[in-house]
Amino acid sequence: TIDLDEQARDILKMNDRGGYTIPTKGLYPYQWNWDSAFAALGFAQFNCARAWAELETLFSAQWADGMVPHIVFHKADPGYYPGPDVWGGTGPIPSSGITQPPIAATMARLIFEKDQSLGEEHMRTLFPKLRRWHSWFMQWRLDQGAVCVTHPWEAGRDNTPEWDAPMARIDPTDVGEYVRRDTQHVDGSMRPTKYDYDRYIWLVQMGRRLHWDQQKLLDENPFRVADPTMTFTLLRAQRDLLAMGQMLGLDVDGIAEEIEILEQGAQTLWNPEIESFDARDAHSGEWANCVSNASFLCWYAGLDSEGQTKQLQRVLDKVQYGVPSHDPESDKFDGRRYWRGPTWAVMNLLIGLGLEERNHPLAERVRIATKTLIEESGFSEYFDPTDGSAAGGQGFTWTAAVWLSWAG
Ligand code: DGY
Repeated sequence: TIDLDEQARDILKMNDRGGYTIPTKGLYPYQWNWDSAFAALGFAQFNCARAWAELETLFSAQWADGMVPHIVFHKADPGYYPGPDVWGGTGPIPSSGITQPPIAATMARLIFEKDQSLGEEHMRTLFPKLRRWHSWFMQWRLDQGAVCVTHPWEAGRDNTPEWDAPMARIDPTDVGEYVRRDTQHVDGSMRPTKYDYDRYIWLVQMGRRLHWDQQKLLDENPFRVADPTMTFTLLRAQRDLLAMGQMLGLDVDGIAEEIEILEQGAQTLWNPEIESFDARDAHSGEWANCVSNASFLCWYAGLDSEGQTKQLQRVLDKVQYGVPSHDPESDKFDGRRYWRGPTWAVMNLLIGLGLEERNHPLAERVRIATKTLIEESGFSEYFDPTDGSAAGGQGFTWTAAVWLSWAG
């Protein structure tokens, strides 16, 4: 593992573009929001100053309304589509117009705990920015207290079956011609289909036409889904923000109340029919009826669930290399297609942290599965849960960060 430690550090350095880290060369040549927060945690294992720089470059792209974008286009790269001109983001740095799961506050707390004397000033500066981002979610994205996504890319879980029904309602015939770049970097069988991509781009075009005005998007956007990823990560992030604020004597007014709203919201994602946390279409009220790896973020959010434990036991017994992103017993399961089955080390890290904190008997099983995957198949973007083989982009920042901070 000495060798793997070194390889993981090398990947972070190789993907470092000076103050920010790209997920992987070619496929993702910019700064991605939650990738960056994981990268920061990875850097903190050997260079805390660099870890803070990662979060600071991300927040330098924060919009006036508080949103922190999902991609920051620091430097143009023609190898990626859709780029800054397609998005038309209105922030201080060219960016996309949507956000991503808010894990930054949680990562900031973990980084702070590694070196408190170095971290204190950084945390004080970051705190109000995190607070504004979280408030933006509370203002614009709640449905019965659960947090919604307004584009499949926002959850980071692009083509999960959870979005199939709401995506089917979008008619993308006027999307126009465009050239995908992702399938020039990795095999198309591992990526979302053209059917999905037309709708992703159609949603981007709509946001751009509305200048990413949240009120107008709320009125017009046909895609609005209350999502376990967003709800559980924000609930957790708010708990960490409150703890940090209290420790540093900062203004934490209102955070405890917001946590209560999110706790109630999280319960509205419990689908009794499948006995699992699930995504719920905010427009139609319909359940996705999916057990995904996001369903297993409840412990990370500080919530216990016996029912979810049974589900985790079941899916881990079904595939050798969990946690699969989609139920392996579902007919929609596809072990290589991105978020329709593959195992993602970063989701395992969040699931595993939550389980460990609660001394859950399945905690070690999730960590060992992750460790084994990386030992056997390297630092790839994600893995086939049935045979453990590597899939997606290689030399991947967040998988390296998971190794350094937790799995290795
Ligand atoms: C992509 O380009 O596939 C990304 O997932 C968008 O965030």
